Amino acid sequence: MNIAIIGSGYVGLVTGTCFAEIGHHVICVDNDAAKVAQLKAGKIPIYEPGLEDLIRRNVQLHRLRFTTSIGEGVAESQVIFIAVPTPPQQDGSVDLSYVEAVARQIAEHISAYRVIVDKSTVPVKTGEKVAETIRRYARPDAEFDVVSNPEFLREGSAVEDLMKPDRIVFGVNSEKAQAIMQAVYAPFNAPIMVTDLNSAELIKHASNSFLALKISYINAVSAICEASGADVEKVAAGMGADKRIGRQFLNAGLGYGGSCFPKDISAFIKISEELGYDFQLLKEVETINASQGERFLKKLRDKLWVLKEKKIGQLGLAFKGNTDDIRMSVGIRIAEQMVREGAALSAYDPKGMEKCRQLHPTIPTVSDPYAVAKDAEALIIATEWTEFRNLDWVKIRGLMRTPLVFDGRNLLDPAEMQSLGFEYYSVGR
Ligand code: UDX
Repeated sequence: MNIAIIGSGYVGLVTGTCFAEIGHHVICVDNDAAKVAQLKAGKIPIYEPGLEDLIRRNVQLHRLRFTTSIGEGVAESQVIFIAVPTPPQQDGSVDLSYVEAVARQIAEHISAYRVIVDKSTVPVKTGEKVAETIRRYARPDAEFDVVSNPEFLREGSAVEDLMKPDRIVFGVNSEKAQAIMQAVYAPFNAPIMVTDLNSAELIKHASNSFLALKISYINAVSAICEASGADVEKVAAGMGADKRIGRQFLNAGLGYGGSCFPKDISAFIKISEELGYDFQLLKEVETINASQGERFLKKLRDKLWVLKEKKIGQLGLAFKGNTDDIRMSVGIRIAEQMVREGAALSAYDPKGMEKCRQLHPTIPTVSDPYAVAKDAEALIIATEWTEFRNLDWVKIRGLMRTPLVFDGRNLLDPAEMQSLGFEYYSVGR
């Protein structure tokens, strides 16, 4: 099938590439000419495990190409996915202007039946608006259907999530569009759930909010563990053994960040408010998440007293392991706070440093994890990179001035760290 993906960011690029991999012919469209030129030259603008090889292979097989022209995408494709950004606004709602603009441009080019699929994460009822917009700007006889097909990709394992999904959800209002969507996804051999447009959109916001709620729940429990001397890892294991609960997303730590959870939770609160419901439960999820970083910094201050002029090393800037993404990263927030308080900070991240240097130039970075530890009076772990677990901690112990470690992601084993001579603090243990 011929497919166009409008927007070649994390979601669009991974989705388009995986569609090509299973045999569709895909045109990825982006209005950023520099990015398209880069992609055409074989350079990948993001770090995502496995993506580069897949792009190269499918370009060579002539199943994947890149353009800046929406007209070309619409003319040559039966199915058009909208995967443009939906950034947060000051009041917590999402900015839908990119989705609206793309809907208008698609409308102008429709000359035969097309399925327009909303892939971007959007508030419930957006699909209806997209359909209205296309109807308004398209030729009066234009035939099309609008579908909602939310993505459930985790950065860092996006290719795997797309190739082997738990479920594929799409919301449709026509049998014709349903059959086409089924043909698009049949090669993935995964469970397909077909709903109405609004339910599909809600599934996305409700899923991400529930996962964030799980994280805030265990983080609240971690505070009780610290106060009572219990161990949050054991509590999470005991809870998670109940199939109704499950162990995943019960890792206590500095809280959630990234380009999805913070935005999706506030957008869900906002759209609920507009629909007449005050989603207080989710407001509390946000409050707990914000306080988790503060509780962590308090431990540091309690130990070091003043942070000013203290040499502190930080491992981790990305919002989680296996990604170079630093958007809404708790690690960045903590680093900036320490710099504000006058600490002599040096930070390292396996993939997130380039973006950190560009976007947060006040955070001093070094290109080696051991350089972070040199003469440090304390070391912080802010991101759950497996690489940090595998560092030579005996060497680190030797490099530090005072062996204080604050592990914000419970990456290391407390007993082992103590036996190596560290004074070790983590979350809820
Ligand atoms: C998320 C959803 O998982 C995905 O389905 C959706 O499509 C996009 O949003 P992503 O933002 O890539 O994906 O990150 P995810 O792996 O879900 O982690 C989000 C944040 O939660 C990270 O900051 C991570 O460190 C934190 N987290 C995750 C925890 O603090 N504890 C956990 O147990 C799990």
